Amino acid sequence: MAVAKSQSQEGGPTPGAPRLHVAIVMDGNGRWAKRRGLPRTLGHPRGVEAIRRTVEAAPTLGVGWLTLYAFSTENWGRPPGEVSEVMRLLKAYVNSDLDNLVREGVRVRILGRREGLAPDIAEIVERAEARTAHNDGFHLQVAFNYGARADIVQAARQLMEAAREGRLDPEALDDKAFEARLSTGGLPPPDLVIRTSGEQRLSNFLLWESAYAEFVFQDVLWPDYGLEHLKAAIAEFTKRERRYGGTVADDVLAAG
Ligand code: FPP
Repeated sequence: MAVAKSQSQEGGPTPGAPRLHVAIVMDGNGRWAKRRGLPRTLGHPRGVEAIRRTVEAAPTLGVGWLTLYAFSTENWGRPPGEVSEVMRLLKAYVNSDLDNLVREGVRVRILGRREGLAPDIAEIVERAEARTAHNDGFHLQVAFNYGARADIVQAARQLMEAAREGRLDPEALDDKAFEARLSTGGLPPPDLVIRTSGEQRLSNFLLWESAYAEFVFQDVLWPDYGLEHLKAAIAEFTKRERRYGGTVADDVLAAG
């Protein structure tokens, strides 16, 4: 794997272009398995293979930040066997890939609540972050025990406490101060949010951060995902015109 090196793929990034933040709702592991007559849980190890392919492909396509939605606060409602399989896979992934990620200059951050994680999972999360804390070649965020509403509420709670203790003037609160308290604090907002499997929902992912993101929905189940799919999503993104609530130069000229 050569994740931090920006070797140019055909149709890859323009040299000197700003690097993108791509966020992905990895959907369809269960359906992938069921279509093969397998128990749905068997889709998840194939999903980890797709994560490896995507983490390897992303920097070659001009992506500097990749955020993956791996386990939501709502996913605790899945059957216990499936929840423990996802936990096992996170642990196995960090155990097997962390040395390589460190070597390749990848910074790993886990977004979401630490409370409620079993001690061995909390330990693995902390180890992945600590060992990559000084890297900045490529930024991999894994949203795990993450829910955007819960994240917004915990940010609000921190700010209310700061105000109550006199450390924050409520009048001084602005977007920047608020987003610094989210678990994505310090990251650029996503440019592109992808969801696989054909579903077209955000499912409580990066609700604040994706205010001006472009959305691409791809009709591929996550275990089948790889370089070509990511390249196609970025190609679609580059055709979009981002206006951030304003107008484009041509509209301004036309309005004359
Ligand atoms: C979505 O498919 C997949 C998930 C909710 C789990 C993804 C998690 C992993 C692959 C393991 C985590 C490991 C690492 C390395 C971060 P689904 O089960 O919702 O599919 P369905 O919609 O077809 O049922």
